[in-house]
Amino acid sequence: MSSNFGYAVRATFLEGITLNSRYNPLMVFSGQSNIHLAQEICDHLGIPLGKSETQKFSNDNLMVRYNESLREGDIYIVQSLSSPASDNLLELLLLIDAAKTSSAARVTAVIPYYSYARSDKKDEPRIPIAGRLVADLLQTAGADRILTMTLHSPQVHGFFKVPVDHLSAEITIANHLLASISDASEGVVLAPDAGDMKRASALARRLNSNLAFIDKRRVSDTQVEARSLVGDVRDRKVFIVDDEISTAGSIVQAVSAAKHAGAREIYVACTHGVYVGPALERIKGLDAVEVVSTNTVEVPEWKMAQARKLKVLTVAPLFGEAIQRIHTGKSVSVLFE
Ligand code: R5P
Repeated sequence: MSSNFGYAVRATFLEGITLNSRYNPLMVFSGQSNIHLAQEICDHLGIPLGKSETQKFSNDNLMVRYNESLREGDIYIVQSLSSPASDNLLELLLLIDAAKTSSAARVTAVIPYYSYARSDKKDEPRIPIAGRLVADLLQTAGADRILTMTLHSPQVHGFFKVPVDHLSAEITIANHLLASISDASEGVVLAPDAGDMKRASALARRLNSNLAFIDKRRVSDTQVEARSLVGDVRDRKVFIVDDEISTAGSIVQAVSAAKHAGAREIYVACTHGVYVGPALERIKGLDAVEVVSTNTVEVPEWKMAQARKLKVLTVAPLFGEAIQRIHTGKSVSVLFE
């Protein structure tokens, strides 16, 4: 932690607010999944990124090591469960375990993209609820808190017994649309799935625009079917918003349904730009002005170069602010307003 931030915490203590003053210093570390985001979060906080290393042994086992003392620290470990999800999850578990056994005072797992939130129920025979199992693993490893963003199913929050702060990228996406589109309030926010209605409705409120949704059925992991579009998008600008774009099957169907219903211009946005399998080819052929995601999942240069419609917004300030508030015992709920 930089001396500036330490000074701020001590000053708060002197002013009589003692909550969390024992969590000193604040330190942020990163797994391998999203080092750029972790660095940006540290830039926002005005502290250096903590020093750690990860190795893979010849027998395929992972090993992590902190290269500075964590004793009595308030430790934040940034790791998205993006591809390679199994390695990234294991690295996070090892980092949590190593922090706890190195006498950290408190460990928060900062998981910008909790991919296993898509497995939230037992809706077929003989399958696991992986979202719950991963929550158990994180707590067993020693996570004292979780900080995450846009869970596919918000109820995954309930799989944890430790506190979870669940951020939303909606404000970042809304600000982008408001800044780049002059008459956003005359557009329509389109949820590509009835399950996305709550998120879409929150965005529509921010844009002061109307709402529509698609009755979607998933055929397979990579194929979906849009049954019907409910609402009026004729001659309107349409903003399709999803929690994640993985293979882009949902978005292809949503754009084509909107076009079929007479949409004038289409903008696509999501929190997690996973972009796997046929996604880039599908996005290249998409009849949309842009496809925006945030940097909860790192979108490498080569993907941006292949699909020129891709844009990435940063959520580092939101995570930085949340970490600062958690560290100093302040409410995080202002970040949702
Ligand atoms: C599904 O229910 C989610 O909200 C997303 O629509 C889905 O995860 C996107 O996946 P894909 O891009 O592969 O259709």
